[in-house]
Amino acid sequence: MLQPFGPELWTVEGPVVDGMAGFRYPTRMAVIRLTDGGLFIWSPTALSPELRRETEALGPVRHIVAPNALHHMSLPDWHTAFPQALIHGAPGVNAKQPAIRFASDLGGDPHLAWAGDIRQVLVPNKIADEVVFFHRTSGTVIFTDLLQNFSRGWFTGWRGWVARLDRMIGSEPQVPRKFRLALRSATSKETLRQVLDWPAERVLMAHGTPVSSNAAEFLKKALHPVIVSN
Ligand SMILES: [Fe+2]
Repeated sequence: MLQPFGPELWTVEGPVVDGMAGFRYPTRMAVIRLTDGGLFIWSPTALSPELRRETEALGPVRHIVAPNALHHMSLPDWHTAFPQALIHGAPGVNAKQPAIRFASDLGGDPHLAWAGDIRQVLVPNKIADEVVFFHRTSGTVIFTDLLQNFSRGWFTGWRGWVARLDRMIGSEPQVPRKFRLALRSATSKETLRQVLDWPAERVLMAHGTPVSSNAAEFLKKALHPVIVSN
C-alpha cells in the first residue's frame, strides 16, 4: 500500500473518486517522515485498516495537510483515527470542514514543526489556491492539481474530448488549460517562479505520473508557459 518514493517519503495510490460531471479521478497521498520522526500526511486518501497499520508503523502521525480546497474529503476519518495530529488546511478548506478544528491555515511560510524539512509556497488562483511543497531530504516538489496527466483512455466519450482540450491528457504532466487561465495574476506567476528555484530531483502530483528523473528540466518546461503568459 505505502510505496517508497524517495528518502523519508512514501506514496499511496488511493481509490478512484467521483468528481464533478461524472469525471472520475485516481487519488494519491504522500507521507513524509520529518527529522524528528513525526509523520506529515499530505492530501490524505481514504483510510483503510491496512493503510492505518502501515502508516503507524512508520511513526507517529503529527500533521495532516489538505493542500487545496478540493482535497479534503478524507480529513474527518484521519482526524478521528489520529486525534492527536494537527490538521492544516489551504485557504478555503476550513469552510468545507466546519466540524474540524484546524491548527493552522497554510500559507507561503512553513509551520515551525516542519520548516527544517519542507519548504512551501501558496499559489493563488481562481479555482483553488494551492500550497506546493518541497521536501528537502528527497528533493521532491509536491503539486496537487496544478499539474496533471491522465492516461489516454482514462476518460471516455465527451469527457475524453474535454480532458484532451484541457490538456489533462498528454505524454507528461502539464498545467491544465483551466488552471492556466486561473493563474494569470502576477502573484501566481511569481510563486511558480519560486518553485523553479528549488533543487528538484522528483515531482509528485495528486493525479499524474510521478517524475523521477530530470525533474528540474521537467518543471521548467511545465511551468514556463504559465509564467510567461499574458
Ligand atoms: Fe485533485
